[in-house]
Amino acid sequence: MKAAYQEATAFAPATVANVACGFDVLGFALESPGDEVTVHVTRKPGVQIIAVESDNGLPTSHLPLHPHKNTAGGAILALLEGIQAKFGVEVHIRKRMPAGSGMGSSAASAAAAVVAVNALLEEPLALEQLVDFGMKGEAIASGSEHADNVAPAIIGGIVLIRGYHPIDLVRIDPPNNLYCTIIRPHCAISTKAARELLPKQIPLQTAITQWGNLAGLIAGLIRGDDGLIARSLHDVIVEPYRAALIPGFYALKEAALNAGALGCSISGSGPSLFALSTSENIARAVGTAMYAVCADMHIDSTVYVSRLAHGGSRVLSVH
Ligand code: HSE
Repeated sequence: MKAAYQEATAFAPATVANVACGFDVLGFALESPGDEVTVHVTRKPGVQIIAVESDNGLPTSHLPLHPHKNTAGGAILALLEGIQAKFGVEVHIRKRMPAGSGMGSSAASAAAAVVAVNALLEEPLALEQLVDFGMKGEAIASGSEHADNVAPAIIGGIVLIRGYHPIDLVRIDPPNNLYCTIIRPHCAISTKAARELLPKQIPLQTAITQWGNLAGLIAGLIRGDDGLIARSLHDVIVEPYRAALIPGFYALKEAALNAGALGCSISGSGPSLFALSTSENIARAVGTAMYAVCADMHIDSTVYVSRLAHGGSRVLSVH
């Protein structure tokens, strides 16, 4: 396949994976922040990552430029191979959230990358079809192909991954009143390490509690039933293990619930926490309360408040 355009830029948003009770099978997109990726066609096949910049325009020193080790690079390589591309690309990545934050940073770069390359080709693939390629990039960062960040980062909304073999995505429109607060303590957790500490088997009773919560959460989101959402936003499998990686986790969660959040848990593999609230005012109060807890512990943090986004990645320019 040949490129129809020379250069394209795409945006992909931050995402919250797991959403408490849906480890590896549920995630949603935020409106902001998000990463931007520009791809430029080259005659030389393959992928060359030219630059990875952070918010302030400075290069990030810790993210690899080798395409096989970079989530955007790996996703593009898989896509170029999948479509038997007759061209290569140079890639410029602008990060708006740090890696290892639990906000789907690696997925956002992979998602924006495949959406930008698809734009060069006049979009032969539907957004859903790009998820498989995005997952190949995500696997570089986490050591496993999971779609609960990359699928919402690409297609937007709340996404249930009903199955992986083959991938079966169920997109749910977010209720319009729901706002998400994220607090990102300024430290990093490797998703790979946070996956390795999870148990390989769980007791049946624990599984029953979790799948009741997951089904309840999905039903609550579809019905817009805030009470059901609040009763369901509990994670009895992963959170008890990963909480220990996040300083003050239980104090932060308590502060969010006391400030009026429907529920609060770890965003992805952490260290960020997310909380869902029924208005922007409550979501901001939740952010203020959690920020104060971090400040008391002398931990710097950043708070983000966003609606749950209906859209995911979008093409910003193509020519
Ligand atoms: N479901 C993944 C995990 C998301 O929790 O390991 C990582 O962002």
